[in-house]
Amino acid sequence: MQQSIAELLQSDQFLQEVHLKGWVRTFRANRFIAVNDGSTINNIQCVIDFSTTDDTLLKRITTGAAIAVTGILIESQGKGQSVEIQVNEIEILGDSNPEEYPIQPKKHSFEFLRENAHLRVRTNTFSAVMRVRSALSFAVHKYFTENGFYNLHTPIITGSDAEGAGEMFRVSTLDPNNIPKNEDGEIDYSQDFFGKETNLTVSGQLEAETYAMALTKVYTFGPTFRAENSNTTRHLAEFWMIEPEVAFMDLNGNMDLAEDFIKAVIKYVLENCKDDLTFLDERFTKEESTKPAQQRSEMSLLEKLNFVVENNFKRVTYTEAINILRNCKPNKKKKFQYLIDEWGTDLQSEHERYLVEKHFKCPVILFDYPANIKAFYMRLNDDGKTVRAMDVLFPGIGEIVGGSQREERYDVLKEKIKALDIDEKELWWYLDLRKFGTAIHSGFGLGFERLVQFTTGMGNIRDVIPFPRTPQNAEF
Ligand code: 4AD
Ligand code: MG
Repeated sequence: MQQSIAELLQSDQFLQEVHLKGWVRTFRANRFIAVNDGSTINNIQCVIDFSTTDDTLLKRITTGAAIAVTGILIESQGKGQSVEIQVNEIEILGDSNPEEYPIQPKKHSFEFLRENAHLRVRTNTFSAVMRVRSALSFAVHKYFTENGFYNLHTPIITGSDAEGAGEMFRVSTLDPNNIPKNEDGEIDYSQDFFGKETNLTVSGQLEAETYAMALTKVYTFGPTFRAENSNTTRHLAEFWMIEPEVAFMDLNGNMDLAEDFIKAVIKYVLENCKDDLTFLDERFTKEESTKPAQQRSEMSLLEKLNFVVENNFKRVTYTEAINILRNCKPNKKKKFQYLIDEWGTDLQSEHERYLVEKHFKCPVILFDYPANIKAFYMRLNDDGKTVRAMDVLFPGIGEIVGGSQREERYDVLKEKIKALDIDEKELWWYLDLRKFGTAIHSGFGLGFERLVQFTTGMGNIRDVIPFPRTPQNAEF
């Protein structure tokens, strides 16, 4: 039976014949082949006897080649590994021409690897990131399942703009060269596939709310799409979002849930991805050491992860945050790109990061934001000018979670929809929830890639999703 390299490296069944398949990482001295199959960050060393191995076969053992090995598991003679394999038989399953193969055993830049995103997972860094990503995804489902939530699949094609930001990708089967128009010269969507204007979803929240109003605790975890033209290290045009929604839960409960959930999934990877995190921790420290001293992270990656798990998030109102920011050094010395002046201004990521990294030095939950910088569905406070919104802010990332208590009062919601000039006809079913058995309820959205970024210490969000979609880039 073929065993994974992870299993073989744990094995103590010495002197037994084993079979393995994988890809050559390096081949040294015509003798030592480092083989990896993705089951672990670690390679297994396969030792061949070149005096009895055919010369043409030796030449085909090149970086990237797929091989099958039969040999004897022995305790390693060399340093750095516990076991190795004395090869009896080696078969080349797939050659890899060393003149052409882009992933050589040396340091490649992340830019270069992004251009080779189909092969970059064959490097230590990307395979580690993608294994951690997979473990985090499992931890998300585990957490919610164990806490009585139902998983729900919300639609990807939708007729409503949940966030009201108008940054949506159109879904249409109309012929772009021959678009039907009505008498007023407007596009006649009645002739389109769905008979109405449709887009890719920016959030599953509105549909999740309908399910929470029957199943009480639900969550959706799916792809979301935003056509915002932001070329930053934290934005993707296609990203995955985790959105729990809970009936009978207010904003305080929502903050408790977000904090408990984030801690649980990070704890899960700390316990289950030790080898990968150790590798990523070293990579992070090396990268930080190349930065100027003031920009360097004060903690190692593992220290940051443990810090998040072990410490309470600081909860601060928007109004308190504005007062801190208005009087802080970078604002007074005009170091911020966007200066904080009046109550009511939206926070930029430079402000969020100042609060988290310089002022509080821990994860922060900001809540009770001005109504006019937040989405229509958030519950209005009694002051009439703030809403029960919350954002969780993380070091090095900025906003990782956005959520709120939802407006459950029919009249208030209807007024808001009208005031914002949102087409009420598109939201009749959403308003219905407030007509039939309405109840307070809350939820949030966590950007999965931002969580993976934080957990792996990767600087650019494009390096934590297999095939990033960003403006001017949809290769692969
Ligand atoms: O704050 P946002 O826009 O909130 C919502 O969409 C709500 N409907 C969620 C809810 O209450 N159910 O987005 C939520 C999170 C952000 O905090 C961020 O982590 C992530 O989604 N996010 C992005 N991640 C990557 N690329 C982008 N372009 C992102 N936009 C938002
Ligand atoms: Mg937000």
